[in-house]
Amino acid sequence: MALDNITAFQVFGSIALGLMCFKIVTKFLPWVYINIIGPKFLGPKLNIRSMGGWAVVTGSTDGIGRAYAKALAKRGFSLVLISRSLSKLEDVAKEIENECKVEIKIIDVDFQNSDEIYDKIKAGIEGLDIGVLVNNVGVGYPYPEYFHNYYQQNPKILLDMISVNIHSVTHMCALVLPVMLSRKKGLIINVSSTTSSIPASLLTIYSGTKAFVDKFSEDLQTEYRASGIRVQCIKPGYVSTKMSKLRPSLSSPTPDTYVASALSMLGYATTTTGYLPHEFVHITYNFMKYLTCEPFVSSVFLKYYLKLRKLALKRMSQKK
Ligand SMILES: NC(=O)c1ccc[n+]([C@@H]2O[C@H](COP(=O)([O-])OP(=O)(O)OC[C@H]3O[C@@H](n4cnc5c(N)ncnc54)[C@H](OP(=O)(O)O)[C@@H]3O)[C@@H](O)[C@H]2O)c1
Repeated sequence: MALDNITAFQVFGSIALGLMCFKIVTKFLPWVYINIIGPKFLGPKLNIRSMGGWAVVTGSTDGIGRAYAKALAKRGFSLVLISRSLSKLEDVAKEIENECKVEIKIIDVDFQNSDEIYDKIKAGIEGLDIGVLVNNVGVGYPYPEYFHNYYQQNPKILLDMISVNIHSVTHMCALVLPVMLSRKKGLIINVSSTTSSIPASLLTIYSGTKAFVDKFSEDLQTEYRASGIRVQCIKPGYVSTKMSKLRPSLSSPTPDTYVASALSMLGYATTTTGYLPHEFVHITYNFMKYLTCEPFVSSVFLKYYLKLRKLALKRMSQKK
């Protein structure tokens, strides 16, 4: 009997150990390669400079978009900067031109407006040898809010957020893909958000639009991989910008730090947070889900967002 027990214990122990080794080999090691060994020690896997002469960046007058524009100009790309405020576009173009000595075109459009803006963009990029498109423009919530409240405060919000966060991505891809396909090379970087894959109650419209960007990017990559097109979907956590209103820290890096990190991960993964500390948000979420259950973890996140909402409402009432 005792021998039987020891044997059963040994069998189950071996199975558990085997499963653990299998998980380590299939999940942990690729993660370490994609997030640490590749970008930090082996260097860029993708020669983006060979993709073409021009890079197009949407939402390029501030935050992450502006940091992408600068980083690409430093790599020698001429730029098409697209954003809504002409004076800010002129300022950013002048700053980058002085620093990097590259050719820059600006196109002022509001992505909340109707599809006609894409005729203006199409005319503006006609004939350019576009190698890189960064679909960065995006709008979020001023603070976490219940869907029905936010909708009542601003009934146009649904359409506006879909226009900026979704339509801009699909339309811009549709405009540049024919050029890239004709040359059998090109890179599309779509900026999503961590909120697309972790609980994001009280940010529902935003997180929903970003989940679209994830799925669209993954399938687009599969569709065009054989044609030489690379798609990277980045899902930042907090980055210190006008949108997040956070000071720079390890967990909310400056846009320049974040973009340098995301660019170093090019070629290693189609979908990535783009920044190691943001990977840990995903890991923590998955670990909590593994130890407990999804509804419990979602309720923990809801409490966090409710706390942020309370703070924001308090601050707003003090300002009045
Ligand atoms: N910051 C974060 O913590 C964070 C986290 C996850 C994901 N993201 C994503 O990262 C992207 C960039 O965010 P960010 O934090 O860098 O934002 P940001 O600092 O607010 O900059 C947004 C840029 O987009 C432009 N823009 C906004 N609405 C526009 C419109 N309707 N038409 C044309 N241009 C418009 C802005 O122009 P103006 O200067 O004229 O306003 C600005 O250049 C977004 O897609 C966002 O969802 C950000």
